[in-house]
Amino acid sequence: LPLAVLASGGGSNLQAIIDRIEEGKIAARIVAVVSNKPQARALSRARAHGIPAIALPQDDYPDRAAYDAALLAAVQDSGAQAVILAGYLRLLAAPFIAAFRNRILNIHPALLPSFPGLRVQAAAASYGVTIAGATVHFVDEEMDSGPIVIQAAVPAGPDDDGESLAARILTLEHRIYPQAVAWLAAGRLAIAGRKTRLAPSSL
Ligand code: GRF
Repeated sequence: LPLAVLASGGGSNLQAIIDRIEEGKIAARIVAVVSNKPQARALSRARAHGIPAIALPQDDYPDRAAYDAALLAAVQDSGAQAVILAGYLRLLAAPFIAAFRNRILNIHPALLPSFPGLRVQAAAASYGVTIAGATVHFVDEEMDSGPIVIQAAVPAGPDDDGESLAARILTLEHRIYPQAVAWLAAGRLAIAGRKTRLAPSSL
């Protein structure tokens, strides 16, 4: 399955997916990594693995609509048939979501529907949660709201802050995101309303 990965930052989730693909554990090929940040380490990780790395500096575009159009064109031109958001910090425009309906995944570093939005690890730590975690979900027009594919949890305690929790959750992300991408690439994910169903393995 040809994938485009959108990233704005370090790209550790991208790296985990690249590694599992290279180990033959995911039946997919990353045809492009696209970032709104030209300096994103995610782009250099892509280049190091011979993957086309496309920077769309958002400041180069006169307005949101121009950026959104450039993003959709870049992803469609890459031949991607599914889109993986990996630390991508912009909302996708409705035409983009329509073009890849039910074929966009995102990872959120909290147990949705708790703690939607940004800086959620710090919010969870200061709330005093004793269980934190991550969620992989399909992306729809709302933020952090599409059908959930997989969740996983880690313990949290009073000594945690945003940073310690983010680090512990990131380790979890690097396990569950490649798993979700593998299921998507194997065509095993079906959506029924709010629910995602995992078909049995064809092995
Ligand atoms: C992580 O906090 C992750 O939860 C979120 O984006 C942040 C950076 O991820 N998806 P990455 O290292 O750029 O993959």
